[in-house]
Amino acid sequence: MRPQVVAHRGASHEIAEHTLGAYVAALDVGAEALECDVRLTADGHLVCVHDRTLKRTAQTRGVVSTMELADLAELDFAKWKNPWIDLDDEAPDRDEKLDRVLTLRTLLETVRDYSARTGRRVELAIETKHPTRYGGLVEKRLVELLAEFGWAGRDAPVRVMSFSYTALQRVERLAPGLRLVQLIEHSRNWAMLSRVIGPEWIVGPGIEVLRDHPKLGRRITRAGHDLHVWTVNKPKDLDICLDLGVKAVISDRPAFMLELLDR
Ligand code: G3P
Ligand code: CA
Repeated sequence: MRPQVVAHRGASHEIAEHTLGAYVAALDVGAEALECDVRLTADGHLVCVHDRTLKRTAQTRGVVSTMELADLAELDFAKWKNPWIDLDDEAPDRDEKLDRVLTLRTLLETVRDYSARTGRRVELAIETKHPTRYGGLVEKRLVELLAEFGWAGRDAPVRVMSFSYTALQRVERLAPGLRLVQLIEHSRNWAMLSRVIGPEWIVGPGIEVLRDHPKLGRRITRAGHDLHVWTVNKPKDLDICLDLGVKAVISDRPAFMLELLDR
């Protein structure tokens, strides 16, 4: 079985990451799952934003966790990717809501409605970002929201990822059965994590780590864990994943990965 193709922050190579536009594009090209990062706003909404601050993707000062959703909704999260768009007379008129801050609720609704309309199962890989001032409240809100959709159990088209082992332990306690992915940034983290993570937890190393430590991938699979690898954008990196029997490749270029895998 070939790996599942997961759109990392949407089709983020082409379209501004974490916008609805990037996720709609990923669904259009046939991505089998969507990856997103989530943070809590000051008024308790989960929004899909990678960075702690707004500098890179909304080109303004501010910290996501200190702002309310209504304030974030005023900002353009797409312009940084295409700064000259206003000067392009031939650019098609754009639906503004594709470029605004995306709440996790809207992303879940989008996936639910898309799957109902097309009959195609699409999964979500949701990463909680830590450290954050809200600590465990992030996972609490996440599980509450998933439960509203009936997506907090084993059969849910959802898995929760984090670099934080503590955060994943919280999810396990709040929603036993939900699939979990322990992300790994450095190979040295595996020695400790291998002793504590659950036998069914998936492990998510970065592709750089696998490139630099060719034996690590095998050590993880020999310990009985599936591998989900990020961020796989190049044919050579995809080959490494295929060789290891990786179950999901998380890519900024889902269309390109699908083409390589299915041609
Ligand atoms: O899919 C996991 C990967 O997204 C983790 O790194 O920095 O892109 O969130 P980052
Ligand atoms: Ca992420």
